[in-house]
Amino acid sequence: MSLKKVHHEQPEKFEFTQSNFDLAKKILEKYPKNRKKSAVMPLLSLAQNQNDNWIPLAALKYIGKFLSMPYINVYEIATFYSMYNLSPVGKYFVQVCTTSPCALRGSNNIVKICKEKISKNPSELSENGLCSWTEVECLGACVNAPMMQVNTDYYEDLDDLSAEKILNSFVDDKPLSPGSFRNRKNSAPEKEKKVSNGIKNA
Ligand code: FES
Repeated sequence: MSLKKVHHEQPEKFEFTQSNFDLAKKILEKYPKNRKKSAVMPLLSLAQNQNDNWIPLAALKYIGKFLSMPYINVYEIATFYSMYNLSPVGKYFVQVCTTSPCALRGSNNIVKICKEKISKNPSELSENGLCSWTEVECLGACVNAPMMQVNTDYYEDLDDLSAEKILNSFVDDKPLSPGSFRNRKNSAPEKEKKVSNGIKNA
């Protein structure tokens, strides 16, 4: 698992645009008045969407004030969950699951391919600025291991060859479609093959 990096260049100020400010107020209405801190996660997502898919420290401070909660608590939440990015990510943000089920089926090789195709280190932009990658914990698709998430899409049932093809497609800005790369329908069993002794194999 890689450590989450805070970007070395930070904007001095952050505030919600008027439309996001209005949206943030609406989000707050969903929570009891004495529990407004509970809105911290949707507000972090709002800030991330507003700021090119990453959250500057100024936004964490802004949200802390917005919710009357200590900055350090907002920081703890933003650094705990992998879905919040604290440094710029590429147009194609690749998250490789390296938890045990994916690791047992070869996700460490996918990490190696990311290092070759995108950047030597996680959370760094590729040379053309289009891609970045990181390692994450289980993304809930273990039955299609190994897998990776790219932006909001899942690429599943991977092997070295398919992972390389997929990563090349992002680097070339011609993304392949997501889904199973062994032609499975979602997580359904693969077609059965009959073998000579009459026993069916998956
Ligand atoms: S272990 Fe990789 S998706 Fe669950």
